[in-house]
Amino acid sequence: MKYTNYGHSCFAVEIKGKKILFDPFITPNELAKGVDINAITADYIFVSHAHDDHTADLVDLAKRTNATVVSNYEIVVWAGKQGLEKLHPMNTGGKWKFDFGTVKCVVAQHSSSFQDGSYGGNPMGFVFVTEEGNFYYSGDTALTFDMELVPAIATLDFAVLPIGDNFTMGIEDAIAAAELIECEKIIGVHYDTFGYVKIDKQEAMRQFDEAGLELMLPEIGSTIEV
Ligand code: NI
Ligand code: MN
Repeated sequence: MKYTNYGHSCFAVEIKGKKILFDPFITPNELAKGVDINAITADYIFVSHAHDDHTADLVDLAKRTNATVVSNYEIVVWAGKQGLEKLHPMNTGGKWKFDFGTVKCVVAQHSSSFQDGSYGGNPMGFVFVTEEGNFYYSGDTALTFDMELVPAIATLDFAVLPIGDNFTMGIEDAIAAAELIECEKIIGVHYDTFGYVKIDKQEAMRQFDEAGLELMLPEIGSTIEV
């Protein structure tokens, strides 16, 4: 599976020829200045919660790419009001079989409001089960025992977890999360973008390594094989 990092918690995965984008936040991100947002294509855009650092470029990107937006009911209703038409509402605990595989929405312990303070439904994580591999994107979340349910859904090939601390799990909790979800290959997100989430990457690598885990922090704009 190809994984492309667009900075912060924005990334894309290619499965069965479909490009699936997550949590679009590129134009406000100083660290992602090298990313040409107009060159990004997408068949689906999954949104974990309403916060601006996960939705800033959602409407423009969905309009230009004609991607289907998948998120919680409240975010999908909001997206419809912004003029988007290809929408798929889901909610925590539910799963759906898409043309690239099955996605189950799982609990994230966070909050979810739009920039103006309006209600953005419950935050979610997603477990992808596909013929080309399985992965979990936790979204913004605290470490939670709900993660123990993930290995019952799928044996993971990799997981995408926040490691920036302050608003989400930090390094220590992401390591504990990797143990709960029984996954050794972790791609870190939600770090370095702004002051509150700056981390020491070498130290993060060291701590994951010490725990017998692999932490991957691909450069912004780069694509890796996972
Ligand atoms: Ni958030
Ligand atoms: Mn966030």
